[in-house]
Amino acid sequence: MISIVIPTFNEVENIVPLLKNLTVLVSDFEYEIIVVDDDSPDGTSNEVNKYMKSNNSIKLITRIGRSGLSSAIKEGLIFAQGKYLLVLDGDGQHHPTFILDMIEKIKKNKSDIVIGSRFLNNSKLEGLSNKRSRGSKIANKLARISLHKNYSKLTDYLSGCFCLEKEMAKKYIRKIEINGFKFLYELLSLSKGNLTVLEVPLIFKERRFGNSKLDIAIVWDFLISIIHNFTLRLLPRKAISFGLVGISGVFVQLFITSFLVEIFLIDFYNALPFAVISAATSNFLINNQVTFRSDRLKNLALLIGLLKFLIVASLPVIANVGITTAIYKYISPDTFIAQIAGIAIVYAWNYLASSSFVWKKSI
Ligand code: GDD
Ligand code: MN
Repeated sequence: MISIVIPTFNEVENIVPLLKNLTVLVSDFEYEIIVVDDDSPDGTSNEVNKYMKSNNSIKLITRIGRSGLSSAIKEGLIFAQGKYLLVLDGDGQHHPTFILDMIEKIKKNKSDIVIGSRFLNNSKLEGLSNKRSRGSKIANKLARISLHKNYSKLTDYLSGCFCLEKEMAKKYIRKIEINGFKFLYELLSLSKGNLTVLEVPLIFKERRFGNSKLDIAIVWDFLISIIHNFTLRLLPRKAISFGLVGISGVFVQLFITSFLVEIFLIDFYNALPFAVISAATSNFLINNQVTFRSDRLKNLALLIGLLKFLIVASLPVIANVGITTAIYKYISPDTFIAQIAGIAIVYAWNYLASSSFVWKKSI
């Protein structure tokens, strides 16, 4: 049996035509099609519900609240019964005829994964703007260097269209991190070069209706995953994100101080507190958008959160001086090492305290 998993969010005009195409294509197989919809406000689930009445191989999981693409794929795959599991987008951008090639290839070669690649010589890429296409190429390069060398010949590590052999995939699916778009990348990362992976060329068409859901948070999430992979998946993703945001804060602070001192001719000592508070505020707002977006604060809670964050971040300023002095005095007379150790401890404090005090339950 073949299980086809289709994640959807606001695909009301795209999903039924796709289901019609698919059911004709796979009619020779024993199959099930599982649509995983995040309760799309445009009524995607309703449309699927109506269409399902004419075909009992179609199943629908409607989840309450939006949990994202990778999470939808994960849930659909856990639910699936088939020996082969196929995932494709619900907007019709993945030309469905290729799924037959993919199924044939995975069966014939007894491979573990077959990817529908947008970047093989015979692939056709009609649905990506130049900017997206450049972005995808960079992302694929980063993916290639961060993954096991057995996977270095692959061309599309971020495809949303792939076929898995269930017995093999079972081991990994539950461990896959669910934020963002990068389900396939995560699977390759977790499997550490142990899987046989093949590719078939894909036609990636223009979207007919609606918009892409890929946004800056998805790109950020992918960068965090790459770094997470480089740290041998040891450092928590949120801690990495928090660290990167912290680095951005350093630049905010340096920029604001020099701006105030050089343009407004304000005295350095007067400019500094303003710059530090601005940097902390900018850190807070960016963390709220990306690092802790699953617990994002809004309105009054945002303001209270900012105050808490400023308190949390101000305590270690004193601690930093104390710790750095102590390390300098008792452990290492090297000022650089003492400062780095101080910064590392303050960073750990800020991250842990913010996670549990500002954005609760988020570690
Ligand atoms: N359930 C659910 N929840 N589905 C979602 C969500 C979500 O939060 N976000 C997106 N989807 C569904 C869309 O409805 C669509 O069927 C599919 O996932 C892909 O989303 P798009 O928004 O159309 O993505 P894209 O076309 O920009 O991105 C394509 O390329 C990426 C790599 O560059 C897709 O093939 C991605 O899967 C791929 O990673
Ligand atoms: Mn799409």
